[in-house]
Amino acid sequence: MHAGRSTGSRRRRWVTALAATTLVLGTLVVVEATTVAAPAQALDNHLARTPPMGFNDWNAFGCNVDDQLIRQTADLFVSSGLKAAGYTFVNIDDCWMTRTRSSDGHLVPDPAKFPEGMKATADYVHSQGLKIGIYEDAGTQTCAGFPGSLGHEQTDATDFATWDIDYLKYDNCNNASDGTLADYQSRYTAMGDALKATGRPIVYSICEWGVNDPASWAGSIGNLWRTTGDINDSWGSLKSIIDQNAPLAYAARPGAWNDPDMLEVGNGGMAQTEYQTHFGLWAVMAAPLLIGTDLRQATPATMAIYLNRDVIAVDQDRLGVQGQVIADRNGTRVFTKPLANGDRAVALYNSTDVATTISTTTAQVGLPRAAGYTMKDLWSKATTETAGTISASVPAHGTVLLQVRTTPGWSSFPPSVALAATSPTAYSGADAAVSPGGTTTVTTTVGNAGKDPLSSLRVTTAAPSGWSVTATSPWSRATLRTGGTFATTWKVTAPPGTAPGPYAVPVTTTYAWGARSRVVATTRALTVEVVAPPPPGASPLSDVAWVSATNGWGPVEKDMSNGETAAGDGKPLTIRGAVFAKGLGVNASSDIVYYLGGACSSLTTAVGIDDEVAASGGNVIFQVFAGDT
Ligand code: GLA
Repeated sequence: MHAGRSTGSRRRRWVTALAATTLVLGTLVVVEATTVAAPAQALDNHLARTPPMGFNDWNAFGCNVDDQLIRQTADLFVSSGLKAAGYTFVNIDDCWMTRTRSSDGHLVPDPAKFPEGMKATADYVHSQGLKIGIYEDAGTQTCAGFPGSLGHEQTDATDFATWDIDYLKYDNCNNASDGTLADYQSRYTAMGDALKATGRPIVYSICEWGVNDPASWAGSIGNLWRTTGDINDSWGSLKSIIDQNAPLAYAARPGAWNDPDMLEVGNGGMAQTEYQTHFGLWAVMAAPLLIGTDLRQATPATMAIYLNRDVIAVDQDRLGVQGQVIADRNGTRVFTKPLANGDRAVALYNSTDVATTISTTTAQVGLPRAAGYTMKDLWSKATTETAGTISASVPAHGTVLLQVRTTPGWSSFPPSVALAATSPTAYSGADAAVSPGGTTTVTTTVGNAGKDPLSSLRVTTAAPSGWSVTATSPWSRATLRTGGTFATTWKVTAPPGTAPGPYAVPVTTTYAWGARSRVVATTRALTVEVVAPPPPGASPLSDVAWVSATNGWGPVEKDMSNGETAAGDGKPLTIRGAVFAKGLGVNASSDIVYYLGGACSSLTTAVGIDDEVAASGGNVIFQVFAGDT
């Protein structure tokens, strides 16, 4: 796709370019399960009655694992409170052994990494009151090319038991498989049987990446099974894994868990909001909680996530039910997880790029009728009462996690009040967008879900220095009854010359509640993005900063074709022999969003399949959307 040039006007403010080419680079096989299999017979090794909790080195260290790291991590489990919070397993991933087996066919711990042998490392971990895990592969070699266990299952399992190993992660690389279910089941059963034959209790973690629908069979062979390919420390990876793991709730039960992969919390590639979504949804999905960061360098913010006892308790609840998705609309989802004490954990998950209000009810999440309910926000720890509506404004990529219960004591808690914000200029990651010197509008809506009415309700704002934020409709109200809403529209003006970037506009909601008229004030900062529109006159799109750009393979390229892998790997843009100096190189499916500040009257494009694509030809669908959001 090559697209360029825009000139001034008032009406078109946004352009989204969506282009698709038929450049086929690999084979994508989509397998759809048409029936939901009944859970197979459970593996009865009495282990992992709640999802395993611990650490695995792979996400943070790759192949750089050694005895010292495992010992330091065990020490940190004790000193940081992780052990007391329930984290038990210190797990070693790939690369712990030598490149070949010993002459008598045994795996050999790499003497440079584990100089005293694996039993010594295990003894140290056990001396701290913890358990130790190890890694092998149901193939000829591990993913990093070390000797695999295929055909050596009993020898290896016996060695693991001799070393006092408590947990085995069993991978799927170099599997010499014909891809059939029968082959998958036989390779994973062979190691399961070998572990059983040792007589040592060893948690068995099946890692076949979700290839052969393990949710439908792996619970009779192992204690947990990976449901997806490898996670990485990015929002795109997290979102896609949630999409894949959420529908598999039917298969989870004590001793048998869906495993959406190890935690990335703390590794730096995501925002705190996204890491809270990661950890919170893993808990609601009854997933293993395996820390994947360098604990020696973990920040207080990272530890606050890993040590959130309320969230851990949701994961570890003894009912062992994976939360179900009960509503799925426009990129938002509601999960509900029944807990042993009758409460429900409720997750309001917003996968979209703008803050959104997500609502459900106590009846929909499965709670019985009651005179009143309380909801505890498991991150902020605030408890409120509700008549039955469960509603919150959820930031982009965020998850509000609530524990909801029926309680006769509801009236001693403040009503649940949500403040939503909408704007005609809602912008990726922000509530609204404005040009330097420009004006936009934002409408705030206060909703009262509590049984108690609100009185003396006021909504006030503070403006960043030099800005003006003024109400164009009433901002105070004497009372707001149960289920009532109160909207106020604000005119927001950024001073000329404001530097592009996000600006916080705090909105404070103040009200009184209950017989004693207790006053509550809560502040939510709206984010207004200042965006510089393109300069006057015509600009090639490749010179205009985009809001967001996604691409099927590799990044979108400016002024070159798409090389499909790294940034800058393209060639000159060429359509039917004509070379274009300016343009965009994309690959299906691609979506590019521009903010034009109300200053664009036309878009001129030359679109085609680049000449570098083989003569087989293909189809391109190119769409342009203009709008205010
Ligand atoms: C595979 C697994 C990962 C990790 C690596 C190690 O990719 O899925 O979790 O164990 O192998 O090589």
